[in-house]
Amino acid sequence: MSPDWSNLRADFPILHQNVGKNPLVYFDNGATSQKPRAVIQSLINYYERDNANVHRGLHALSMRATDAYEGARARVAKFINAAGPAEIIFTRGTTESINIVARSWAHAHLKPGDVVLTTEMEHHSNLVPWQQAAKATGATLKYVPLLGNDGEDGLDLAALDTLLTPQVKLFAFTHMSNTLGTINPAAELCRRAKAVGAITVIDAAQSIGHLPFDVREIGADFVAFSGHKMCGPTGIGVLYGRRELLDTLAPDETGGGMVVSVTYEGASWKPAPERFEAGTPNVADAIALGVACDYLDALGRDKIFEHDAQLAQLAMEKLSTLEGIRIIGPQVGQPRGGLVSFAFEGVHAHDIVTFADQDGIALRGGHHCNQPLMRKLGLTSTTRASFYFYNTPEEIDRLVASLRKIQKFFAG
Ligand code: ALA
Repeated sequence: MSPDWSNLRADFPILHQNVGKNPLVYFDNGATSQKPRAVIQSLINYYERDNANVHRGLHALSMRATDAYEGARARVAKFINAAGPAEIIFTRGTTESINIVARSWAHAHLKPGDVVLTTEMEHHSNLVPWQQAAKATGATLKYVPLLGNDGEDGLDLAALDTLLTPQVKLFAFTHMSNTLGTINPAAELCRRAKAVGAITVIDAAQSIGHLPFDVREIGADFVAFSGHKMCGPTGIGVLYGRRELLDTLAPDETGGGMVVSVTYEGASWKPAPERFEAGTPNVADAIALGVACDYLDALGRDKIFEHDAQLAQLAMEKLSTLEGIRIIGPQVGQPRGGLVSFAFEGVHAHDIVTFADQDGIALRGGHHCNQPLMRKLGLTSTTRASFYFYNTPEEIDRLVASLRKIQKFFAG
């Protein structure tokens, strides 16, 4: 049995409110997670006591802010078992992290004839940057196919053998699909990419706060994730890069803070991570992200995963009893992450989300930044319920009851 964490709801002020007449059920964690009081308090503490610019001042506040900012970097490194803090670049989020690799690494290393490999289940943020990089360099973009009419059988790992040729220079894939809930075998994919000399980029936005993640065990070259999906604030994210790779990359942005020396004729760069953090960084949110790491590690991401996965299975079982529902991604009993996407014939996802909202239930409806995947599945949109450790089985009952009501309404 997964732990009963309903008592942890006390740590999340936002969960204790009514939407209309009903207590909030927050099932939009795939879009953003809620924040525990410790994270919110850390932002208040920073702005009330320590706020100053980092790396520049010799006064007490600046030194305190710098220590806390660099402490957060070390904390994040530990959270993913990086070799050291220099491998952690603070960014605005997953999208910016992937774009840095696409612009800095890909532009410097790709040429006509090279191949960038990604998959048919990627979020736009791990797809469009590679399209742009391929266009700019003359490289070709290829996709690992997704199996099953509902995407239920995951990536075609047999096709990967054919696709992974020595021409592949970079393989970018999601660890957990934000739409299907599929969890890809990250370590195996990295190992197979490495065998042909390809660099790997993992979009870990949906997985990092939900399951144990060890960059060295997985063998990833680059990993991108966002703070706000793992109990941290918005506007802060991480690009992990192996030190040897980061030091060979030219910076994507230039300006103050990332230079060793500047003359009227040119400039030289600091090593990573400063090289990639031009200008004043997002100090307060980075520190609060460190606090989010503490919070999640105290719970244990193995236990969080167990809890989320059990909720997802329970939701799958109960949703399957609804007539005409089409659940995409791994089917009942198959392993999946803590989210479920589904469609009802004749009812648009936006209608479902609007009606569920009247019952106090927050869902997400649309293409989930996965337009090519939707087209492949013959859909325009799905409704998604995405869970976290503060959600409960009773909330799933409320979702199912609300969906029954909605179905009845649309059946006339
Ligand atoms: N990428 C986020 C989601 O899947 C916004 O909802």
